[in-house]
Amino acid sequence: MSDRPEVWLNCAASLDGRIALAGGRRARLSGPEDLRRVQEMRAAADGIVVGVGTVVLDDPSLRVHWELLDGRRGKDPARIVVDGSGRTPERARVLDGSLPTIVLTSRSSPRTYPTGVERIAAGSGRVDLAEAFRALAARGMRHLMVEGGAELFASIVRARLFDRWTVYYAPVAIGGVTAPPLLRGLEIERLEDAAHLDLRSIERIGEGFLATYLPRTEGRRDGQPPRT
Ligand SMILES: NC(=O)c1ccc[n+]([C@@H]2O[C@H](COP(=O)([O-])OP(=O)(O)OC[C@H]3O[C@@H](n4cnc5c(N)ncnc54)[C@H](OP(=O)(O)O)[C@@H]3O)[C@@H](O)[C@H]2O)c1
Repeated sequence: MSDRPEVWLNCAASLDGRIALAGGRRARLSGPEDLRRVQEMRAAADGIVVGVGTVVLDDPSLRVHWELLDGRRGKDPARIVVDGSGRTPERARVLDGSLPTIVLTSRSSPRTYPTGVERIAAGSGRVDLAEAFRALAARGMRHLMVEGGAELFASIVRARLFDRWTVYYAPVAIGGVTAPPLLRGLEIERLEDAAHLDLRSIERIGEGFLATYLPRTEGRRDGQPPRT
């Protein structure tokens, strides 16, 4: 039994695995059908998590757009930002006080946040994600949805802190050098050290497709299928 919440990663990527345009400029890769699916995922989560890099570049609202869900209205998930050194801009939408918001930060960060924004310190320098996720579980959170970006995904995947990963692949190719990939910062030199996944399903959604993966917990990690 895990002492952290269930963690689902979700993002939209180009066919070549880029999640934004050159320099990290936001790309609207999801079509209407996928946007609706993302709202369903958000609505089912206790918290929606992003890295501060995404907040700086995209300024997301991290809210559920209930109007896309057939008039349904449920409990809003908390907005959660991983911000080790306190870089969240003061005017960021996640700090507007309109919804419950938590900042996961490091013990060394001197930054304070507006009233109503909860601060959870875990780790020094970078946020210790395992510790931070345990703290969220202790607050009753059972299910987190992590939306990116590339550095946060890399840390979570490296530490195997996830239970499901969905990628919507849009029928577009971006390329270039500075457009962020799905994961940044992992330098893997041996295939057995890479995160191995099990492909659960592939589904056409609008003009693209959705691939669902689970982390491989059994079997060989050398690129060969598990022994049966
Ligand atoms: N297509 C999609 O679905 C999608 C979704 C979301 C984002 N994006 C794109 O992703 C890009 C942003 O990604 P990014 O890689 O620049 O930033 P990011 O992953 O959103 O945030 C990374 C930052 O989080 C902080 N952090 C603290 N502790 C960390 C830890 N343990 N592990 C990882 N990060 C930690 C670090 O900043 P400090 O060192 O200052 O703490 C780090 O630089 C944007 O271009 C955005 O458009 C795309």
